[in-house]
Amino acid sequence: MSTISFARGVPAPECLPVEELADCARAALQRDGKSVLSYGPAGGYAPLREWIAERHSVAPERVLLTNGSLQGFVFLAQRLAGHRVLVERPTYDRPLKILRTIGAAVVPLAMDDEGLDPQALEAALATGPAPALLYTIPTFQNPSGRTLSEERRRRVVELARANDLLVLEDDPYGLVRFDGAAAPSLFELAGGEGIVYSSSFSKTIAPGLRVGYFLLPAELERELEAAAVSTYITPVLLGQATVYEFVRRGNFDGNLERVRSLLGTRRDAMLEALATDLAGHATWSRPDGGYFIWLDLPVDTDAARLLERATEAGVTFVAGADFGGEPNSARLAFSFVSPDEIREGVRRLATLVAPIAV
Ligand SMILES: Cc1ncc(COP(=O)(O)O)c(C=O)c1O
Repeated sequence: MSTISFARGVPAPECLPVEELADCARAALQRDGKSVLSYGPAGGYAPLREWIAERHSVAPERVLLTNGSLQGFVFLAQRLAGHRVLVERPTYDRPLKILRTIGAAVVPLAMDDEGLDPQALEAALATGPAPALLYTIPTFQNPSGRTLSEERRRRVVELARANDLLVLEDDPYGLVRFDGAAAPSLFELAGGEGIVYSSSFSKTIAPGLRVGYFLLPAELERELEAAAVSTYITPVLLGQATVYEFVRRGNFDGNLERVRSLLGTRRDAMLEALATDLAGHATWSRPDGGYFIWLDLPVDTDAARLLERATEAGVTFVAGADFGGEPNSARLAFSFVSPDEIREGVRRLATLVAPIAV
């Protein structure tokens, strides 16, 4: 019996446009090989910076291309040692670890089905030293799949402005939407001021390209570019030029449609399987996009112990506590496995979960 992984937050192999990217990499090298194979500007490959700048209506100097957006997070985190940093509870585990390692004082804020609770933000701003950053993933959050409502987005921007609070809006999943209409980003609502926006081509093209980006306020441009230069001398220009060739050919939107359809089918399969096999045993989020569903198990269930039994039964997930969540919560990724595997994996999981006591 092979193990079915709901743990891996990575795209299914069919999502990756391998042939087209091979062709784009060759074309990029043929056209611009002498520069992309050398050391280059810390800010990244200029044509891609310009393309991103135009999409977000900012000046190209405000765009910093990084080797994946997590690398950019590390650069930004370097200024946070010893400071209070507000995060959602739960939140993406890697930034959480990075913040703890550099010695930031992490303050988790409550969230619910509508995303981050602005009252929790307000309360955190009213007590203790002024936080240096709010780290938020407002759309199809990793790990919960939840999306911040438009009303709350406006409130978060208002609170940030009133308190001079720097916000990092991490948005790698926003374009991977299966249904519904997108709310404006915090960055858009704030008119591009006071909010650092990060995204990536990891979910829209391929994570192995390692092309992420940040939209920075002027005062952070130099600081983060300096951190980039001292870390890796030059960004991976070949990856960036390959992405640029991909978008220059007009492939971006069509590929996104394909990815949305492949992943939307998987989301549907997981929601249907949960309704069939786990109704009355757990509750879960219903994301309109992204990679993840958040499971709340009966209160007396320890998800870490459940994971041990689940692994023996041939299905894995990540315990919610890894993201700062409750011990009885879990993150299920639907992005990697096939719809048939999703149905089988949920069936295996359901045999191990006790009904919710009423
Ligand atoms: C919320 C969030 N931010 C950032 C990243 C990292 O993306 P990248 O591949 O661009 O480093 C991920 C990857 O899973 C993510 O879930």
